[in-house]
Amino acid sequence: MAKILVTGGAGFIGSNFIHYWLTNHPNDTIVNFDKLTYAGNLENLADVEKNPQYLFMYGDITNPEMVDNVMKGVDIVVHFAAESHVDRSIKEPAAFVKTNVLGTQILLDAALKHSVKRFHHVSTDEVFGALPLNSSEKFNENTAYDPRSPYSASKAGSDHLVRAYAETYGLPITITNCANNYGPYHFPEKLIPLAITNILEGKKVPVYGDGLYVRDWLYVEDHCRAIDMVLSNGKIGETYCVGSMTQDVNNLEVIKKILKIMGKTEGEIEFVKDRPGHDRRYAIDWTKIHNELGWEPMADFDTWLAKTVDWYKENTKWWQDIKNGEYKNYYEEHYGK
Ligand code: NAD
Ligand code: DAU
Repeated sequence: MAKILVTGGAGFIGSNFIHYWLTNHPNDTIVNFDKLTYAGNLENLADVEKNPQYLFMYGDITNPEMVDNVMKGVDIVVHFAAESHVDRSIKEPAAFVKTNVLGTQILLDAALKHSVKRFHHVSTDEVFGALPLNSSEKFNENTAYDPRSPYSASKAGSDHLVRAYAETYGLPITITNCANNYGPYHFPEKLIPLAITNILEGKKVPVYGDGLYVRDWLYVEDHCRAIDMVLSNGKIGETYCVGSMTQDVNNLEVIKKILKIMGKTEGEIEFVKDRPGHDRRYAIDWTKIHNELGWEPMADFDTWLAKTVDWYKENTKWWQDIKNGEYKNYYEEHYGK
């Protein structure tokens, strides 16, 4: 019966993780500590808010008093809280440095002070930079860091701090560097939910540049299971890379798959201005977590993608509330009216 502090639990992956954990570890208690930025949404957790094993605490990881208070009695920290959108980091980098770097350091201090048994840091493959198109190269746990956006630079900074606290102070840590997640409760600023919801609204799907950029796509529930396996059997101090794909699928191909699932034609695609410094290709070698912990995805990309489309069809109110709210201004500023 562990007490688990989940930071950023009202966001996309954090809320999926809380659902996953309450289902698979019903005797543990979860405290969800979240600042409820534009990306935090308690609707994601409406079905568990009365669960006696679950507690929401409003708070900011950059506030040392709040963090010290919430850390009391915690066994395990699973740290998701971050500013997570690359395009926003290009427009306003300061919030990324504050939350992702300073916020992580404040959490690490409190975790050390309160002797937590594990600090698990959720990071990204973007810290490794970009791979060339049409190559067989992949990121792995030994790839040198080469972040290229303010977002990935801030996540790289947080990874270094987490390792520094392990080396210097002996904090028991683990890190996962994972690929692009997709699935339920994904904020519609990100490619897959943006594409699905735009199609449902009868709008075009904006594709940056030539659309030949490649991401490694990881279904969010597979990711949550990977974190569970690292918490249960991962080695203290180690990093695990979590990807899912076995072959490259570029952004245009992803959109075409979605259009096909939804019975639409490629006429719905609109090429728009590219992202500055756009990383060409990500691909993860997930051999280590597979061989050491037995992790692998439960289904292939096409299967999970179809399931994801169904979720957005069945949960229109969830994404319509977001798209008609504050996000509308961001969308119009970013893509034009
Ligand atoms: P998200 O943007 O959907 O959610 C982030 C959550 O953190 C929100 O609930 C937000 O309110 C909260 N938050 C932000 N600043 C905070 C602060 N100062 N104090 C407390 N809470 C704060 O993000 P996500 O997509 O769920 O990503 C979660 C984590 O996983 C991040 O650390 C991200 O870098 C990492 N990651 C995400 C992906 C992906 O594809 N989404 C891939 C690799 C790694
Ligand atoms: O790789 C892991 C990372 O994946 C995470 O660390 C980040 O938090 C997460 O946001 C995600 O970053 P990306 O920049 O890869 O995700 P995004 O959904 O923004 O973009 C995916 C690809 O689609 C990328 O090549 C840019 C492109 N794109 C994106 C948007 C929003 C488009 O072509 N059009 C769009 O409108």
